[in-house]
Amino acid sequence: MSFPASRHISPWVDTLPPPELGPTGFRDDASDVLVLGAGITGITTALLLQRAGLKVTVVEARRLAGSVTMHSTVKVTYGHGTLYSKIEQKRGFDAAAAYAEANVAGFGEILALERDLNIDCMLERGHPHVIYAEQPEEVEAVEAEARVAERIGLPVTLGQEAPVPFEVAAALHFTDQAHFHPGRYLAGLAEAFVHGGGNIIEGVRAREVSEESHHCTVGTAAGKLAAAHVVVATHYPFLDRGGQFSRMTARRSYGIAAVLPGGSNAGMAINAGSPTRSTRTVMLDGEELLIVVGEGHGVGHVSETGQRWARLQQWAQERYGVTDFRYHWSAEETSTLDHVPFVGFAAPGSNRLLLATGFDGWGMTNGTAAAMLMRDLILERDNSWAATFDARRAETSLPGKEFVKHNLHIGKMWLKDRVGGPPNGSPEELEPGDAAVLKVDGEQTAAHRDENGALHAVSAVCTHMGCTVGWNDGEKSWDCPCHGSRFNPDGEVLHGPATAPLSKQSLG
Ligand SMILES: Cc1cc2nc3c(=O)[nH]c(=O)nc-3n(C[C@H](O)[C@H](O)[C@H](O)COP(=O)(O)OP(=O)(O)OC[C@H]3O[C@@H](n4cnc5c(N)ncnc54)[C@H](O)[C@@H]3O)c2cc1C
Ligand code: FES
Repeated sequence: MSFPASRHISPWVDTLPPPELGPTGFRDDASDVLVLGAGITGITTALLLQRAGLKVTVVEARRLAGSVTMHSTVKVTYGHGTLYSKIEQKRGFDAAAAYAEANVAGFGEILALERDLNIDCMLERGHPHVIYAEQPEEVEAVEAEARVAERIGLPVTLGQEAPVPFEVAAALHFTDQAHFHPGRYLAGLAEAFVHGGGNIIEGVRAREVSEESHHCTVGTAAGKLAAAHVVVATHYPFLDRGGQFSRMTARRSYGIAAVLPGGSNAGMAINAGSPTRSTRTVMLDGEELLIVVGEGHGVGHVSETGQRWARLQQWAQERYGVTDFRYHWSAEETSTLDHVPFVGFAAPGSNRLLLATGFDGWGMTNGTAAAMLMRDLILERDNSWAATFDARRAETSLPGKEFVKHNLHIGKMWLKDRVGGPPNGSPEELEPGDAAVLKVDGEQTAAHRDENGALHAVSAVCTHMGCTVGWNDGEKSWDCPCHGSRFNPDGEVLHGPATAPLSKQSLG
């Protein structure tokens, strides 16, 4: 399936003016807290801690706002598909209510920060976010979500109207939700943080953290840094002190944006069925764009990823009549097996090392709530959601059916790569654009010939825990099916948990 041309970049990355940060750089500033990762979770945590009087440094492997936050649909909402009913099923009603309380607080904090700091981030509120059933068999899921949301006390209404140009069988409205430009919002937070005396170190990947009785030390390629507390806000955490890896999954999702003809019926909506179609609109550079996100799959499990954009475009064309496509992009998101993020101290006995991950596709309010919770934990303040989100529950809760299934799958991926392994072959035979994992001189080799004819060959063994990477043709990257690490054709880390590159393979 081919798809009409559009630019391979997210609309937010394309329209982000560079933030005015002033001097930043690698220096050991004797900080109270080191925050690793400068997405919405890391930057919000850093700013909230600074506002509470602590000295904070942010360490970012790539660029400020360089990762998932900038590839999101960016609905700022606490209407999260059918998550309240799923959480109630897995953890009980109180956990669903605590999840709601945290996300409502995260929503309020975003509005308050935007207002207090006067951030020009195109924030619009007043829109409903609508979870709809298109098919009769999806109605029960939407009604079940409505029942839990009503019992929690969330402002919802159930009907049959959705902001989509086709009929639906049921529609749950979360009223008065919002959306914004994530880059402009993060730039506003980062500018306030740096002007308040904080430092953001860009281009430095954290590789290890040691936690001692009075402080933590972070090892990076540029040297060591120390602080009383360390917050790992790197999306997928690069350390697993509390057994989180065995209870997390990593998925990739795809996004497209197209010019929406005037008068179209469109707003923030998501279907309850499958495949996912999450929609919203945005005015960018004087044009109204329709954004459609969906077509998710486990990272590293699909090679022909370009097809995913084609399917989204076809759906948008059929349903909305759009033909003028502007952007396409993809990104990764993590989930926990019980759908509640892991937030808090990283391991039993840990009281200086914290992490936040597993936002299940809803990281605007969850990431902000995580920042509020981690601030409270560091300041030893009470927080009523702490127990529900406790990242250490991974270690203590009993393995369920999904835990066994998930870890059997990872075990199989690992074993498959060792028993038999990839076929023998010669990378020299690859045509421009081709990629393959081959056994070359006994080594598992990930080889790609780029469109200019140059051959790139690296070890196919993921530097995280040794699974074999697979090719992602849409993003031209090597993706790991075990925990979602991603590497470019020269082996450089694009996404953790891996912190070290794939080693270069010499050919011939
Ligand atoms: C397609 C898609 C659509 C989505 N739509 C929505 C939506 O509509 N609403 C919503 O609420 N959520 C949505 N989400 C989820 C949301 O975007 C994410 O949960 C959120 O952006 C995660 O923020 P983060 O700060 O945790 O991660 P990131 O933004 O990825 O930030 C993590 C940072 O850590 C850095 N880093 C990684 N490793 C290291 C290291 N070792 N050392 C130092 N730095 C490191 C990375 O470079 C990165 O900058 C969506 C997600 C996807 C994939
Ligand atoms: S991401 Fe864990 S083994 Fe590759």
